[in-house]
Amino acid sequence: MFTLAVRTILGSFAKYMEMIMRPLIAGNWKMHGDMGWSDKPEVFEKYYPAKSREHLDVLICPPSPFIAPLVRSCSKAQIYVGGQNCHVAESGAHTGEVSAGMLKSAGANYVIVGHSERRANGETDVMVKEKALAANKANIMPIICVGESLAQRESGKASDVVSQQIKSSVPNITDYVIAYEPIWAIGTGKTATASDIAEMHAVIRKIVGNKIKILYGGSVKPANAQQILSTANVNGALIGGASLDMESLAAIAKAAPKNASTKNY
Ligand code: 13P
Repeated sequence: MFTLAVRTILGSFAKYMEMIMRPLIAGNWKMHGDMGWSDKPEVFEKYYPAKSREHLDVLICPPSPFIAPLVRSCSKAQIYVGGQNCHVAESGAHTGEVSAGMLKSAGANYVIVGHSERRANGETDVMVKEKALAANKANIMPIICVGESLAQRESGKASDVVSQQIKSSVPNITDYVIAYEPIWAIGTGKTATASDIAEMHAVIRKIVGNKIKILYGGSVKPANAQQILSTANVNGALIGGASLDMESLAAIAKAAPKNASTKNY
């Protein structure tokens, strides 16, 4: 009887946390864009003015050279800016690399770590964990990416793979975001079904607890955004292709649930 009561209270608390978690709509521009794209936040603002989106956070992660110019235009449009990767070290002889502290000093508030396109080039869970820790030390929010391949899904190992990635890639920190991006859904036009997403996000929720945002990524478009963003335990999206066009990024953001109200920006 007592256990049941405790379970009911914990259950409602979990639902409450879920309800108030602010959606995060994050665009990953990957290796696209040029300096002319610094007017994109203004275009976004026209499609979806800041005063109508106080219930959510919008983030754009451009290639590194465009972070600083975008920070200027994004702050007017109340959009956060993030990096797409960082090095584990604060500074040093690492030609071509960028540290989390440098991203922060350029005005970024987030950094994506462990994207599958980087994992495919040899980035391991250990490296992802160190990068997330470096981001945390630099006071920048890591978005830690996980996701299974098609072969892993087809052999029934998706949950085990993702659980293991989380256990090995998340350092001992309290502020981070998880992005679940099934590799086979990235840039392919294929999305996981709502029940596949709900199932995997529930697995992730069990590991990370109720205070961590879990984004879904993989061919999120205006046409499927509402269904994905209203799925249980989905607290936002990480968007590739559709984030390059401000009209479609705004349409996706408009599909986010409106029941969260804490203003973060
Ligand atoms: P697409 O939205 O183009 O499938 O890319 C997803 C992604 O990799 C975001 O990080």
